[in-house]
Amino acid sequence: MRSSNNFDHAWRLPQKGILLPDDEVHTWRASLDQPPSRVRGFLDTLAPEEKERAQRFHFQKDRDHFVVARGLVRTILALYLNLEPHQLGFRYNSYGKPCLVEEINSSNLRFNLSHSRGLALFAITRGRELGIDVEYIRPDVAEEGIAERFFSTREVAMLRALPVNLQAEAFFNCWTRKEAYIKARGEGLSLPLDQFDVSLAPGEPAVLLDTRIDLEDISRWHMTELAPGAGFAAALVVEHRDWHLRCWQWTE
Ligand SMILES: CC(C)(COP(=O)(O)OP(=O)(O)OC[C@H]1O[C@@H](n2cnc3c(N)ncnc32)[C@H](O)[C@@H]1OP(=O)(O)O)[C@@H](O)C(=O)NCCC(=O)NCCS
Repeated sequence: MRSSNNFDHAWRLPQKGILLPDDEVHTWRASLDQPPSRVRGFLDTLAPEEKERAQRFHFQKDRDHFVVARGLVRTILALYLNLEPHQLGFRYNSYGKPCLVEEINSSNLRFNLSHSRGLALFAITRGRELGIDVEYIRPDVAEEGIAERFFSTREVAMLRALPVNLQAEAFFNCWTRKEAYIKARGEGLSLPLDQFDVSLAPGEPAVLLDTRIDLEDISRWHMTELAPGAGFAAALVVEHRDWHLRCWQWTE
C-alpha cells in the first residue's frame, strides 16, 4: 500500500450542488466550536437516541461538540443524498462503526469521522470502506511509554531511532495511521495494534508497511496523510487505489 500523492492538500469552500463521482473520496474539515444558536440548530436534527447520548456527557463543551459532530455528519451527508439532515438514519456494526440505513442509501455512500480538540474530519465516498483519524499532537503523550505499550516492535524501533525533536509528530503520525486502518476495517480495538506496521517518519509517505492480520490488506487498503492544520496529525485509509481525494472546508 503506497501513500497517495494524487491530491491537493488545500481545503476549499464547496460549490453548490456538490457531486461525488465513484472515483472520488471527499474529506470535510470543520470546527466543533460553534455558537449556541447553531448548536441548537444541530440538536434539532438529531434522532432521540443521539439526543440521549448527548445528555450523558458531563461537561457542556463535550456535549456541544458531540451534538455539532453528529449534526454536521447529518448535514454533510444530506447534501449528497438530497435529503434533510433529520431524515437520515444510522445503524452500527458490532464494534460501533456507523453507516447509513439502506432505505435512504441507494447510492451506497460510506463515511467515517474523527474529532480531536474541537476539530472534526469527515470522509465520504461511494461503495468502498474507509476510516479517518485526527489527533492533536501532544508531546507529553508521545513520551509516556504508550508507543512501547501499543505500537509494534518495528514501529517503536523506527520511532526511537528518530531525532528527539521529531518524535512527537512521528508518534501521532503512527497513532492516526493505525487508528484510520482499524476504523476502515471497522473492528475497533479488537484488532491487535502490534500486529501491523505503518510508516511514521515526518515527511515520508503514509504506508501500511506490513500486517500479520491479513496479508491481502497490503493491496486492499490505500493510506494517505492529511494536513488538517498546525498542531494536528491525520490519516485516511480507503479501499482500493483508484480514487482521488478532494478536501472541503465546512462553512454554514
Ligand atoms: C472508537 C474508535 C474506533 C475510535 O476512537 P477515537 O479515536 O477515540 O475517536 P474518533 O474521534 O477518532 O472517532 C470517533 C468516531 O468513530 C466512529 N466509530 C465508532 N466506532 C467505530 C469503529 N469500530 N470503526 C470505525 N469507526 C468507528 C464513530 O462515528 C465515532 O463518532 P462518535 O463518537 O460521534 O460516535 C476506537 O478505535 C477507539 O476506541 N480508540 C481508542 C484510542 C486508542 O487507544 N488508540 C490507540 C492508537 S495506537
